[in-house]
Amino acid sequence: MALSAIILLISTGAVSATTSSHQFHYIYSCYESNDVRVDVVVDDVVIAYADFNKGEMVMAVPKLPQSVKEWKKRAYEIAKTSIAHCHSSLFTAKGADPGSPMRQEAPDSFVYTRYGGEEDVFNTLYCLANHFYPATINFTWAKNGVEVTEGVFNLRYQHNADGTFHRISTLTFTPQEGDVYSCKVEHQALQQPLTKTWGKEEI
Ligand SMILES: *[C@@H]1O[C@H](CO)[C@@H](O)[C@H](O)[C@H]1NC(C)=O
Repeated sequence: MALSAIILLISTGAVSATTSSHQFHYIYSCYESNDVRVDVVVDDVVIAYADFNKGEMVMAVPKLPQSVKEWKKRAYEIAKTSIAHCHSSLFTAKGADPGSPMRQEAPDSFVYTRYGGEEDVFNTLYCLANHFYPATINFTWAKNGVEVTEGVFNLRYQHNADGTFHRISTLTFTPQEGDVYSCKVEHQALQQPLTKTWGKEEI
């Protein structure tokens, strides 16, 4: 990844550009709740996002060089300026078409394992929710109908090319005969939660 190019683009305030073969975007999302989300995206992967509570950019990918520190500061300054921009854009949008519904797309979901699913062998379940908008989504895991929170890890959401999002939740587990795992996905565009299961029902 051409990090120096990214630094240059951000400090000149570019919103979107193509650097050599990499697609670079500075995306901000404005929510009706007045929340603002700012992401730095390279090749459809979020590499950093602004945390307005902590007052800094948070790197979403590990192992970036030290030079990133200075860049984070500048990126955060730019992120902050988009708050006011967001609020004024939303104000204009609401004025232009009062009561117009915000975009909403319901997710589809899919549960699969990292490894085959052999009994007594440590494994990971993945629950992929895809094609949803806006980005807020909830995952709830259950084992045999009982909610589990231990071993659950929610990855950060990712952008799709069409502007929707996908996000993965993982659960580490050891398959045992008869155990059934489920992943419940809740999203504002869904009429009711979407639940997918893994494992065989006991006969
Ligand atoms: C997600 O979970 C939070 C906290 O439990 C809840 O307030 C919110 O309504 C949930 N969102 C959806 C879409 O169900």
